Amino acid sequence: SVSSAFDFAPNLFPLSSTAQGYTALGAPSNPALDPSSALNGASLEKNKSLTYLNGLSLVVGLIIGSGIFSSPSQVNRNAGSPGASLIVWTVAGILAWTGAASYAELGGAIPLNGGAQVYLSKIFGEWAGFLFTWCAVVVLKPGSAAIIAIIFGEYLVRVIIGADAAEASVWLNKAVALAGLILVTLLNCVSTKLGTRSADVFMFLKFLALLGVTVIGIVVAITGFSYKGPASDDWKKQGWFEGTTTDISSWAVALYAGLWAFDGWDNVNYVTAEFKNPTRDLPRVIHTSLPLVIVSYLLANVAYYLVLPASVIESTNTIAVAFGSQVFGPIGSLILALFVSGSCFGALNATTFTSGRLVYAAGKEGYLPSLFGTIGLGKSHRAIRLHTLNASVSSNKSGFRRKIINWFADADAGFFFTPIAAMSLNALLTAVYILIGSFDTLVTFYGVAGYSFYFLAVLGLIILRVREPLLERPYRTWITTPIIFCCVSLFLLSRAVFAQPLQTLIVVGFMVVGLGIWFAWVGRRRDKERGRFRHGDEDREKVGWRFWKRWGRS
Ligand code: ARG
Repeated sequence: SVSSAFDFAPNLFPLSSTAQGYTALGAPSNPALDPSSALNGASLEKNKSLTYLNGLSLVVGLIIGSGIFSSPSQVNRNAGSPGASLIVWTVAGILAWTGAASYAELGGAIPLNGGAQVYLSKIFGEWAGFLFTWCAVVVLKPGSAAIIAIIFGEYLVRVIIGADAAEASVWLNKAVALAGLILVTLLNCVSTKLGTRSADVFMFLKFLALLGVTVIGIVVAITGFSYKGPASDDWKKQGWFEGTTTDISSWAVALYAGLWAFDGWDNVNYVTAEFKNPTRDLPRVIHTSLPLVIVSYLLANVAYYLVLPASVIESTNTIAVAFGSQVFGPIGSLILALFVSGSCFGALNATTFTSGRLVYAAGKEGYLPSLFGTIGLGKSHRAIRLHTLNASVSSNKSGFRRKIINWFADADAGFFFTPIAAMSLNALLTAVYILIGSFDTLVTFYGVAGYSFYFLAVLGLIILRVREPLLERPYRTWITTPIIFCCVSLFLLSRAVFAQPLQTLIVVGFMVVGLGIWFAWVGRRRDKERGRFRHGDEDREKVGWRFWKRWGRS
């Protein structure tokens, strides 16, 4: 029988200075510490541990991944001129920003974990939330993670064995990608803090890398120094807008390439409920991260143009490496390749953190077997958790060691207080895509399916404004923001339908299968459960009440 955590860890509570979450009266104010909640129905959402900085690094950490180091040439090829490319980058950035601002409003009004899953459920009905979850859990999240992992592998192999090996051995790249995935998954299973701390560190490294590229570009432009001879003056001769394309679908393709580099702005919405202060921090995260990323992307592009000859920019798929070798020779290309693989590793970390939570939310909702909605290692977990908890705050440890442990693990929740089963499922699916997926199919599928849901959710924001004008919205964006986002993403989607009919058909087919599963199986089971409150979580209860009562599910 379960007595309490107190007799298991008797020396824990006098040390409440490190075990934050205890009030002066000694009663647990942090539910993660509450023995009863930790033992049955442990819930991540109750462990409100994320800060503004964590949110920033989850967003920036995922956005700055592979894209800015590889897609500039793709954008340039399609847009036709440096000036047009910079316009595409700006438009892509602003589009991402409008989407993210809309999501910030949704996240404030519906402060739950799960991102679009909960927004679509509330706005269009639960089938829509299920459909999103189905696509996101099975394809979108693991698919995009696989792309990032593969690029991570390619660049790391390049660093260790050389560029020729990286191009020659697809399987070596994939093996390294798998190793990276496993490492990242382990980090995120050990503790929430380890995951978010790594994200913080990687965010700074990425900004540093982009800043480095910019400064180097400017220095090279001014001094003319570079390993491979003077910097190119092709563009100055040519004029920044010469050669700009007039073909609308080329613009669309360029925009897609830019959007991939900006994608990931919804990352923080998956973990809204875990924020200490979501209503304040969500908009703050969005309105600092996106302008920062936009500016640093534009600067990095300018640096590429200042340094690299036109012929290289048009042909290379590894523009950052070309940049490094142009300026510093072989050493430079090595260093840049290392930076890119590090950046991808960080992005993999940021997406793994939230994917785990999405799968977990799906498990709790009953969209997946309930195993995936659990925290930690199952039954034996109590012992492990309390043991590490005890160890991490025990007075026998020297102050320094205690500090180190607490920096990495949650003093208040202990090691392995994470959605381990959910993370494992996500890792497994990602591994499958790494092994079988090809980059092109994954990216197109990702673009079409991903933007369908972004579009629906932001459209939902507008619908919600009309339908529930009185709903409490701690943050309100200008109404033009979602309108711009909807128009541009509708344009992009329609281009994709014509340009890639087969891919679009696959996406539609996949969604039809998802709907079939809902109506034949999951939805029905949910109907039976109706009446009993499902979530067991005050946050959901509050919001659920507001919505369900008015828009009646029964
Ligand atoms: N922007 C990232 C990159 O440049 C890709 C983000 C993928 N998106 C996602 N939701 N996982 O690599």
